[in-house]
Amino acid sequence: MPFVTFEGVEGCGKSTQLALAAARLRERGRRVVETREPGGTAAGERLRAILLDPDFAALDPVTEWLLIEADRRQHVREVLKPAVESGAFVLCDRYSDSTEAYQSAGRGLEPKTVELVDALARDGLTPELTLLYDIDPEAGLERARGRDGRVGRFEGAELPFHRAVRRAYLEIARREPQRVALIPVNGDAAGVFAETWRRIEERFSP
Ligand code: TYD
Repeated sequence: MPFVTFEGVEGCGKSTQLALAAARLRERGRRVVETREPGGTAAGERLRAILLDPDFAALDPVTEWLLIEADRRQHVREVLKPAVESGAFVLCDRYSDSTEAYQSAGRGLEPKTVELVDALARDGLTPELTLLYDIDPEAGLERARGRDGRVGRFEGAELPFHRAVRRAYLEIARREPQRVALIPVNGDAAGVFAETWRRIEERFSP
């Protein structure tokens, strides 16, 4: 059943859009599972704490990536597959496109190796629809940093890193136009949500 992922650079507003989509789907009587990566399982939330902790700013990029894949594998087995098989509408904040954008493009890991291990973690589960929220990373980071108070490991990365992440996302959207809907973030959450909902409606008629 519907498996939708929400992607984009820091501060793009995807989590707000996910919450709005979940609320609208529930109004329509759909059963919705909201989840996220990293996180989404009890073990995954522990991994998330490590991944986002600025005390571990110097975490090795391969270590970071393997923790992310471990998180994903557990999430797919414990939450995502059972939810999709149960017929729920599954909305996931970040998934494998984040790994291609942040670890392959951002950190510079070897894309083929990342792809191979990620396929093992995903266990064949691919989103039917990916909503990609596109915003200039500088504007996004300003929003993200203002929001949290504390700067996380990824938010703390340099601007060129975030620019590489954005470029990789745009490349994914070009490569897979059937799956990935590119949504420019220009305006308030309500305006962006009109576009979010249009994409969900056109794909699933919920
Ligand atoms: P998220 O909770 O979306 O952070 P934010 O709401 O601040 O955008 O994601 C946590 C961080 O994890 C985010 O900075 C990107 C990073 N991440 C990766 O680097 N690779 C991945 O595969 C995933 C899922 C997340």
